[in-house]
Amino acid sequence: MGALLSVKEVVAGYYEDVDILHGVNLELIEGTTTCIIGPNGAGKSTLVKTICGFLKPKVGSIVFNGEEIGGLKPHEVIRKGISYVPQEKGIFPYMTVEENLMLGGWVIRDDPGRLRECVEEVLDKFPNLKRKRKMRAGMLSGGEQKMLEVGRGLLLHPKLVIFDEPTAGLAPKLAIMVYDIIRGLKEEGLTILMVDQNVRQGVSVSDYTYIMEQGRITGGGPREEVMTSLKEIIRGWLGF
Ligand SMILES: Nc1ncnc2c1ncn2[C@@H]1O[C@H](COP(=O)(O)OP(=O)(O)OP(=O)(O)O)[C@@H](O)[C@H]1O
Ligand SMILES: [Mg+2]
Repeated sequence: MGALLSVKEVVAGYYEDVDILHGVNLELIEGTTTCIIGPNGAGKSTLVKTICGFLKPKVGSIVFNGEEIGGLKPHEVIRKGISYVPQEKGIFPYMTVEENLMLGGWVIRDDPGRLRECVEEVLDKFPNLKRKRKMRAGMLSGGEQKMLEVGRGLLLHPKLVIFDEPTAGLAPKLAIMVYDIIRGLKEEGLTILMVDQNVRQGVSVSDYTYIMEQGRITGGGPREEVMTSLKEIIRGWLGF
């Protein structure tokens, strides 16, 4: 299968005169899981935000499903079929589980019937959430809150789901649950891009891994290959 997403020579940053990404190249093959690893501040979240429309590339192109999406607004990117589960906590604690899910369908709010259907589908997929659908999201456990974020990301049947640090701050058991969810999504045929600090687990659930350092992709390879050189890669980041 071909590339679903292709990032070419992308330069981007938060200010006009400061670039964080210095010509990033990356391809996601349809139906595969790809991981980006790299030290803190390497620009991983910045890259993901640029793909999702929060930052506009100053140079380069981002082609998704055969269409240029570089510079589109976040809601337009969602409509194209890309869903984003951010690194920052994204639930609204005083709203119910159901209401939090509805917010994931903001771009189809004009079609309440379809929105309701989509919400029910997600609730069927996550029985824990279904049982607590009327509960305030802030009352859920950490793992359930993560599930809610993931569920909300799946609401509109995306072609590509992007997870930025999906297991950050989670207890090991919950992290395993999240990786299981990610594996399940891949089995359903979704294309997945994730950024992960849990380098070993991230690489092991992914088909391909890119290494990012100082705003550039500095390496990468298929799972087995990256797995065997992981120690050297991490040693390189630590500078010894
Ligand atoms: N909102 C922002 N405004 C200005 N600069 C930012 C902003 N967010 C990040 N940066 C800067 O961009 C650079 C890359 O940050 P980014 O968050 O992309 O790194 P990261 O690889 O995701 O790191 P981490 O592993 O810590 O999540 C850093 O130097 C950071 O200070
Ligand atoms: Mg980050």
